[in-house]
Amino acid sequence: MGHQFILVLDFGGQYNQLIARRVRECGVYCEVHPYDTSLEKLKALNPVGIIFTGGPNSVYDKESPQCPKGIFELGVPVLGICYGNQLMAKELGGVVKAGENREYGRTETQFDTSCALFDGLEKSSVTWMSHTDLIAKLPEGFSISAKSANCPVAAIQNAQRNFYGVQFHPEVNHTQNGTKMLHNFLYKVCGCAGDWTMGNYAKNTIEQLRTHIGDGKVLLGLSGGVDSSVTAALLSQAVGRNLTCIFVDHGLMRKNEGDEIEEVFSKRDINFVRVNASKRFLDKLSGVSDPERKRKIIGEEFIRVFEEEALKIGKVDFLAQGTIYPDVIESGTGKAAVIKSHHNVGGLPENVRFKEIVEPLRLLFKDEVRTLGAELDLPDFLIWRQPFPGPGLAIRIIGDITFDKLELLRDADAIFRDEIAKAGLVRDINQYFAVLTDMRSVGVMGDGRTYDFTIALRGVATTDFMTADWARIPYDLLARISERIVNEVRNVNRVVYDITSKPPATIEWE
Ligand code: XMP
Repeated sequence: MGHQFILVLDFGGQYNQLIARRVRECGVYCEVHPYDTSLEKLKALNPVGIIFTGGPNSVYDKESPQCPKGIFELGVPVLGICYGNQLMAKELGGVVKAGENREYGRTETQFDTSCALFDGLEKSSVTWMSHTDLIAKLPEGFSISAKSANCPVAAIQNAQRNFYGVQFHPEVNHTQNGTKMLHNFLYKVCGCAGDWTMGNYAKNTIEQLRTHIGDGKVLLGLSGGVDSSVTAALLSQAVGRNLTCIFVDHGLMRKNEGDEIEEVFSKRDINFVRVNASKRFLDKLSGVSDPERKRKIIGEEFIRVFEEEALKIGKVDFLAQGTIYPDVIESGTGKAAVIKSHHNVGGLPENVRFKEIVEPLRLLFKDEVRTLGAELDLPDFLIWRQPFPGPGLAIRIIGDITFDKLELLRDADAIFRDEIAKAGLVRDINQYFAVLTDMRSVGVMGDGRTYDFTIALRGVATTDFMTADWARIPYDLLARISERIVNEVRNVNRVVYDITSKPPATIEWE
């Protein structure tokens, strides 16, 4: 692989991906592997350091995950976090005991700054704790390097063997100097050089793809989302005209989006096929109001159109997908890996024959995919595109879908986005869009009575899209957006702002 490797051994904690992201942000490559990976495999990965994650168990539980035997004899530095810390202590001869109370949340913690992990830090700062068990007796050769009021053993070290453990979570933002601690472990303990950069990754991956694919033909379903766009950009540099991108325009995109995507990719030296299937989708959706039926119809139709186009191009050797690392990480506690279907709406095409799937973003986190996109000269609007559901505006029009309603929604949504952009809030609101409700109400415009549609605006603050809070968009800005929408969009006389969080609501309205 040509770069140093940090192994994150996963014991099922909820922040495991975050640990891996932080390590990579520090410029060091790492991967998450389940706790029961064999010692042989671990050795073969040749890590320069190992991080044990947290986990929900107690180390003495019968079923609790254990680490591979012999891992402490590899001569590789280890950092244990929370459960990982307790496990290391127990395995090396210490004693862990059940605490009486759970210690949870922000905790003022005192550090021994002569410990490599805390080098250069303030003597006291806030850490994020979430544990019940405590280390009651240190293993031989270890000393205490941090403590808090309720946790006399908040961190331990055996500098001679390069073993370090922390009871708190350095990976979460609430731990004030957490990233600095991880940085210290990587650079001061493991001797990392910081050789993980997107520039290098792009160069090496393009080279590898070129060698692997050779003269083979590659097919990619391009949705215009971040992942498929970056996959296309990467493959275009690797194999050029041997790549065919099929962009199924289902007519449910936002204003001008189809043209913008075409503009970007038709300029690259690849085969770019835009299928204008809007009429086909609208016909199938005619009179359908049920959200799940809409989704199903769109998913199936998408696959059909994609297959038809794919069959036209003839031989396909490789099917490319924009799968990213969070989609493939297997949890240490045995949850199966999820395979992402292209475009998020269909599945794999059944009627297109290919030899192999290529997933060049498989090792990357979302933020790395964005950095890579910039490296490959993709425009900002694609790199920073917010999540857009596969079924598109169909699930933002409540009730049945018509071309006129789509146009109306596109116009309202474009005004919303334009004003957010002018206010400089594009990256501050994680997802925002307009919804066309199927409600009409009475209004007055000029001297006349109107009976027109209500547009709902939705803006959310979220990190994982699993939970979300409604975004506090300034009133003045909302006022401007509302004014413009009722003035500029025909058949709309009322604008409302959605102030529900998720749960209990979802982000989309359907
Ligand atoms: P909900 O509405 O479930 O949305 O809170 C969570 C996130 O998922 C997106 N979303 C979808 N994405 N196909 C997709 O590819 C879908 O059918 C779909 N439904 C919701 C939504 O935009 C939000 O970011």
